Amino acid sequence: MKVAKRTFDAVIVGAGGAGMRAAVSLAESGLKTAVISKVFPTRSHTVAAQGGVSASLGNSEPDDWRWHMYDTVKGSDWLGDQDAIEFMCKQAPQVVVELEHFGMPFDRTDDGKIYQRPFGGHISNYGEGKPVRRACAAADRTGHAMLHALYQRNVRANTQFFVEWLALDLLRAADGRVLGVIAMEMETGELTVLQAKATLFATGGAGRIFYSSTNAFINTGDGLGMAARAGIPLEDMEFWQFHPTGVAGAGVLITEGVRGEGGILRNSAGERFMERYAPNAKDLASRDVVSRAMVTEINEGRGCGVAKDHVLLDITHLDPKTIMTRLPGIREISIQFAGVDPIKEPIPVVPTCHYQMGGIPTNYHGQVVVHGETVPGFYAAGECACASVHGANRLGTNSLLDLLVFGKSSGESMIEHIRQEPGALAEIPQSEIDRTLARLDRLDNQKQGADAHETRLAMQRTMQNHCGVFRFKDMLAQGVTKILDIEKQVQQIEIRDKSKVWNTARSEALELENLIEVAKATMISANARTESRGAHVRDDAPDTPLHPDGRNDTEWLKHTLWYRDGNRLDYKEVTLKPLTVDTIPLKKRAY
Ligand code: FUM
Repeated sequence: MKVAKRTFDAVIVGAGGAGMRAAVSLAESGLKTAVISKVFPTRSHTVAAQGGVSASLGNSEPDDWRWHMYDTVKGSDWLGDQDAIEFMCKQAPQVVVELEHFGMPFDRTDDGKIYQRPFGGHISNYGEGKPVRRACAAADRTGHAMLHALYQRNVRANTQFFVEWLALDLLRAADGRVLGVIAMEMETGELTVLQAKATLFATGGAGRIFYSSTNAFINTGDGLGMAARAGIPLEDMEFWQFHPTGVAGAGVLITEGVRGEGGILRNSAGERFMERYAPNAKDLASRDVVSRAMVTEINEGRGCGVAKDHVLLDITHLDPKTIMTRLPGIREISIQFAGVDPIKEPIPVVPTCHYQMGGIPTNYHGQVVVHGETVPGFYAAGECACASVHGANRLGTNSLLDLLVFGKSSGESMIEHIRQEPGALAEIPQSEIDRTLARLDRLDNQKQGADAHETRLAMQRTMQNHCGVFRFKDMLAQGVTKILDIEKQVQQIEIRDKSKVWNTARSEALELENLIEVAKATMISANARTESRGAHVRDDAPDTPLHPDGRNDTEWLKHTLWYRDGNRLDYKEVTLKPLTVDTIPLKKRAY
């Protein structure tokens, strides 16, 4: 098969918030910047982010980046790296105001400042005060507004977009340097090598490994699959966030901003049950805590509906004007997907897979780091990366912040790297290209193989049942066996349509090859971590006086690294030392 070649200063895979923020820095500095994306940039999954982007602007009440840092470390159940967390929280006000200057249409307070609302786990005064208004919002469509502002800024900067292109593999030199990617133009099926001195993965999450997910169908972990195949480990993949409020049965996101505006979760008795689980923060406790409380209510028979399989999110007590102005998208989603008008009736909700805390290991400059060494020419940012600021549980609105801060820092690191290497681009080893050609060839020639749809469904059901909100020792062990069996099927997927033009069957089979890498990394890492921490809670690691909440800092205060080769696990230290302030000492988490 013929493979074309194009060269750039920088190649970015993914046109969500992180990729487009990095591209702004690169293109505005005059570098030839390519962004490749499976979808039109403004349809990237960032568009689905609703409630806000966190920054301690203090527009409505006092706030401080140190309080934000404290909340983020506590939210992470101390697995987050404190240097990266300090960097992110300190940078937040600057990157948000910068975005405002790019044209982001934030909602406004009466005195014209950026509107901010409370969000789960964001509390004043080092966790001692009240929920604080830290989430900067554009109604309940903050990601949508952000993505459009960033896209427009990129158009102005002459960023070159390759729309509806699927990246297939990362290309590395024999010495490990990253040289670019090989990608397929989906319209024609033609292959092209996009070579550059610096390559950024900003490919987003992989929530589609689960059956019930708030994630778009495009969230297939492409960056993680490509990195794993290229020998890069994946970090902390056992930690997945289940957002408390997905529409029951549909999985569509109902923003935590609903609770920020005063929404209340109720069980079948009409009880505000979060008062029992989190007496101070109540409905605005961190997400892992709220999701577990909801599942406990359902498991103990206090769920709602005929099947008693969900709880209710009640905003009927709010002024309809607030709902119409601050939560218009939520009203629309509730009517469309739940058949209820939330002005009059509560919304049926259930925890739904939302976000991966782990990913490609990076430092806070966006450089990919393996065995303590940066991988020359390779960067990652956003949900596909693990900086690690979210640790074992992410706080709501820290994801959009992550995109801005680490999109910008990786863009700046790439500029520095490109300027330090003025020479010609290295030769790409033919063996790297042959590896991708062999994958495509196998797919085209597979006879009597497995069906992609059935195989994906088997993977999603296995992940949902064996690695969900609550985890069980035996189920995890069985889950590993099942996922490894499903992997064998993935390697024998057969596509009946062999055509080249817009062959979605081929694209979906290739995406499944990425999803299965993420599923393996998740199940194997989760099975090995025999403690409870953040979003990873196991029956065999319960709350004891020695290990409050089942967390075992003596043995497990460390990051997991999963290598595709042999499904090997390794571990690395958590960075407890921040950049300039004192370490936030380990403590039992309570809200
Ligand atoms: O609830 C939400 O609006 C989601 C925000 C987030 O995941 O950060």
